[in-house]
Amino acid sequence: MMMHDFSYRGNELYCEKVLVRDIVKKVGTPLYIYSYKTFVEHLRKLQRAFATVRPLICYSMKANSNLAILKTLVDKGAGLDIVSGGELYRARRVGCPPEKIVFAGVGKSFEEIEDAIRYGILLFNVESVPELELIERAAGRLKAKVNVSLRINPGVDPQTHDHIATGKAESKFGLDIQTATRIFADKSRYKNLSLCAIHVHIGSQIVTGSPFVEAFRKTLRFIDKLAKQGTVIKYLNVGGGLGVIYDSENPQTAAQFARRILPLFKGRKFKLVFEPGRFIAANSGILVGQVLYVKQTQVKNFAIVNVAMNDLIRPSLYGAYHGVLPLKRNTRAPKEVYDVVGPICESGDVLAKDRHMQELHPDDYIALMSAGAYGFVMASNYNSRPRAAEVLVRGSHFEVVRKRESLQQLVEGETIPAFIA
Ligand code: LLP
Repeated sequence: MMMHDFSYRGNELYCEKVLVRDIVKKVGTPLYIYSYKTFVEHLRKLQRAFATVRPLICYSMKANSNLAILKTLVDKGAGLDIVSGGELYRARRVGCPPEKIVFAGVGKSFEEIEDAIRYGILLFNVESVPELELIERAAGRLKAKVNVSLRINPGVDPQTHDHIATGKAESKFGLDIQTATRIFADKSRYKNLSLCAIHVHIGSQIVTGSPFVEAFRKTLRFIDKLAKQGTVIKYLNVGGGLGVIYDSENPQTAAQFARRILPLFKGRKFKLVFEPGRFIAANSGILVGQVLYVKQTQVKNFAIVNVAMNDLIRPSLYGAYHGVLPLKRNTRAPKEVYDVVGPICESGDVLAKDRHMQELHPDDYIALMSAGAYGFVMASNYNSRPRAAEVLVRGSHFEVVRKRESLQQLVEGETIPAFIA
């Protein structure tokens, strides 16, 4: 099955029906390019796989929160998983219905909580007792009844990179079962809250069903215990975390995932909520750059490109793998082994290591694949590099959905105080 809509026709890379080189000629590089079709298809895969239970699929916008992407997904029925006031603002800008918004994160501020209550979001995913008390206070002030889901930490190893594992006992996320039990036992203390949901998210880029099954089993046992004490759970939010193909992974498909987990929930009355980010966004985008220099040392060949860790930090931060494809393929060209590196003054500014690929030359364009999730959203201005532009392709159309940052924007908000003059 087609994983995404970036492919060669002849020897030229296309996004859907558009020649990537045509976009690059017009918009320049570094450049993120997204496929509308791939985004929608991945949402649909989940919608289809779980059609029988009609879940609420809240796209986790931290993965890619460009307004055009959010609008695309919201129009196709997705809700949104938000983690900040900024993400709430984006959700509102695309008109996401409040009853399709869930709010997660360990450090919500009072102001963010109030704004979300005013907008009337569906659920707060609560991660600590002090947070619960703060939401109670905000709800009281606004005379609102607020739905809360407790994020429990099931103590499961998701078998993924340490930095993106969140369900282990020592992680900062969620509440252990004992604490959650106590909170439910004390629920009458929270007059303005309805403790009606459970949330569980154990980590990201999880490629097999087993960690999910283990976590959900534990969660269901907890829900059964609550039922005996008279607590009815109306929503079970099972988080995100579905793994994708970056290299040679063989992750479960949406259908396989559904077959594996749906039996667990048979006969249950609660509504399932999902928060997928990477599954929808990762393969839906690429990051295009241009070779500046090819540098040969005694031990390595470096392809120095105009894309850097400030544009895509995943390889530096997690040792993550992103495929590298030339926009113009030449199957007869000699092969070489390259480290693809950026111009930033850090030895960690590596985008790809030891890649066996066609010989590269200055001015060649390359695409870093599967960069649609946790790409642009994690970009910074390090080394005073303006952030990349973003383009959305649909069929034979494309449009810039975020302009390249200008040098002027780079210093916007900075001032030189008189006292240093
Ligand atoms: N729900 C919660 C509560 C989360 O913390 C996350 C991701 C998601 C949903 C979405 O997870 P996904 O379906 O995308 O796996 N920057 C890292 C990933 C960090 C994930 C943070 N939380 C990376 O580039 O791999």
